Amino acid sequence: MSDIFVNMAKKKYINKNSRGLMMNGKPKYYITTPIYYPSAKLHIGHTYCTSIADSMARFKRLDGYDVMFLTGSDEHGQKIEEKAEEAGVTPIEYVDNIVALFKQLWRELNISNDDFIRTTEERHSKVVQMLFQRAYDRGDIYLGKYEGWYCIPDETFWPENKLTEDHVCPDCGRPLKRISEDAYFFRMSKYADRWMKFIEENPDFIQPASRRNEMIQFVKSGLEDLCVSRTSFTWGIPVPFDSKHVVYVWFDALVNYVTAAGIIDNPEKFDEFWPADVHLVGKEIVRFHAIIWPIMLMSLGIELPKKIYGHGWLIVDGEKMSKSKGNVVDPIPLLQEFGSDAIRYYLLNDIQLGQDGNFSRERLINRINSDLSNDLGNLLHRSLSMVEKYRNGFISKGDPTLNESVYEASTEIERHAEETLLAFRRDMNEWKINDALKAVWTYVRSLNKYIDVTMPWNLAKEDSQRQVLDAVLYHLCEGMRFISLMVEPVIPIAAEKIWEQLGLKDFKEKTYADLSWGGLEEGTKVNKGDPIFPRIELDKEVTEPEKEKVEVMKKETVPQITIDDFFKTELRIAEILTAEKVEKSKKLIHMTVSLGEETRSVVSGIADYYEPSELIGKHVIFVSNLKPAKLMGIESQGMILAASKDGKLVVPFVDMPAGAKVK
Ligand code: MSP
Repeated sequence: MSDIFVNMAKKKYINKNSRGLMMNGKPKYYITTPIYYPSAKLHIGHTYCTSIADSMARFKRLDGYDVMFLTGSDEHGQKIEEKAEEAGVTPIEYVDNIVALFKQLWRELNISNDDFIRTTEERHSKVVQMLFQRAYDRGDIYLGKYEGWYCIPDETFWPENKLTEDHVCPDCGRPLKRISEDAYFFRMSKYADRWMKFIEENPDFIQPASRRNEMIQFVKSGLEDLCVSRTSFTWGIPVPFDSKHVVYVWFDALVNYVTAAGIIDNPEKFDEFWPADVHLVGKEIVRFHAIIWPIMLMSLGIELPKKIYGHGWLIVDGEKMSKSKGNVVDPIPLLQEFGSDAIRYYLLNDIQLGQDGNFSRERLINRINSDLSNDLGNLLHRSLSMVEKYRNGFISKGDPTLNESVYEASTEIERHAEETLLAFRRDMNEWKINDALKAVWTYVRSLNKYIDVTMPWNLAKEDSQRQVLDAVLYHLCEGMRFISLMVEPVIPIAAEKIWEQLGLKDFKEKTYADLSWGGLEEGTKVNKGDPIFPRIELDKEVTEPEKEKVEVMKKETVPQITIDDFFKTELRIAEILTAEKVEKSKKLIHMTVSLGEETRSVVSGIADYYEPSELIGKHVIFVSNLKPAKLMGIESQGMILAASKDGKLVVPFVDMPAGAKVK
């Protein structure tokens, strides 16, 4: 056993700078999701977490990495034992059924995981036992007595100093259970200073930065030794030297990341992929990954992962989804109704990574219709229809220089393609998935505009413009070749369809290294197919006004006014300083805005269209002499102007200093 660690220590030293230049010459990238509890079916919140990780894994593969992407199931613990008993089956029968559903969900969502680990597998239990034994041998695990508070659904111990008088779980709000039993403890406290030093020396270890600060506060408020075994139930991995105890489920679960990397079974693989590049986790379990896991690894003498990324929650009606609240959104019917690409695009584009975001069916449909169907789907369909109509489906490079305005527009399309690819790769590498997608869609829209400006149907009427028309069609198709590979991490099915409809081959072997302008070959024959994203007809349920009581302005027929009437309205530029969703409201965002010299509170019904975070810092047009009114109990001292049409709403952002008058 100890040989593994001796080897590891030597190798770590020898290979210090060589990771990533082995075997097939590609750098390695190891990304994980949490392993999910099979205590219930997975909901759209879990789908969110796994979709983020999948896009990142797919992106890294296209960016030239050899990726290992891991997900799995966390199957031990008191909660599972109780659930199985309620269902009248053995724990393993219980988890087998649910884990089969997990795997089916990931297939339907097109998740490209390289491994799926179950903590009930033998490859895992032997690693847990080895590491538990090692920590014990090093004097970091000792026998004591646990008396304290435990959250069974979260499988979490809570020290008294982190609790309020009502003894409910600080994470999930459910009542805690008082327990008292013999238990082994892990000497967390011994490592508090070392942890703090590590965090100081590695400021990017926990991201986003807000989570890092929370963790520092948590450790500063006192780190107690952690109870790492239980005796009151048996569904777990036995403590190797004391079989009355099973290993605490979080100690067991966290180890999955090194098991799957091959710490015992495949040391060569372990050498290449460990330390993991990132553990992507939801915000409530950052604590386990950013404090407990690193300290376990410090004690064991194993290198620490490079990054813990804590994403926010997908919430429904302002609350985290849970069975008890009855607000769980099941991803399966959504996947059947809209397809996996649409769900993935919605989750990754609409929810600001790192922050909580509200799930809205209406916004999902809006995104499908506007971004996927209207912008992207139409671009492909219009372009390929023209290649078929004017050139029998064949692509030629043509010559745009014969027409000055087309030449100018075409040069811009080329430049913009390369620039978009750079911005997209930079943003993805910085975990700014929303920004990365925005850059791609700006490019999609610029190609649509290029069609409107160059008017190929007019060029087709003149023989002298034949080569110019070819050049326009080429630019459209070449632009879409870029788009296809850029959207693959998020909408992989549509990406491949775009590739194939362009008449291209070997999609799965391509990387971003294949994207340099002009790579699309002359003579390629396109295969126009059905639209890749059919429009979703808005059904009654969605178009009907929301039932919640929001005091919105009544529609009035607008009489003509004089210029003097108009000047009664004072319009000024306001800078949004803070923005947050109004609790219990689906539509309202509460903001504070600066008008230069004064600050106002304003409530606006734009939550379906904007995340609070994307509003902060923006400058908007503000009606500053409107009588104050109360919306959901909050005083609104003015109004932000917005434009709306066909279910779409846009707030015009302007580049003028706060306080400026609009006339
Ligand atoms: N089994 C532990 C993880 C062990 S990892 C070594 C666990 N499982 S869980 O099934 O409860 O949660 C798994 C992940 O799903 C967590 O990262 C959690 O944040 C995420 N989510 C659960 N509900 C969610 C939302 N509503 N929204 C976003 N993510 C959500 O914790």
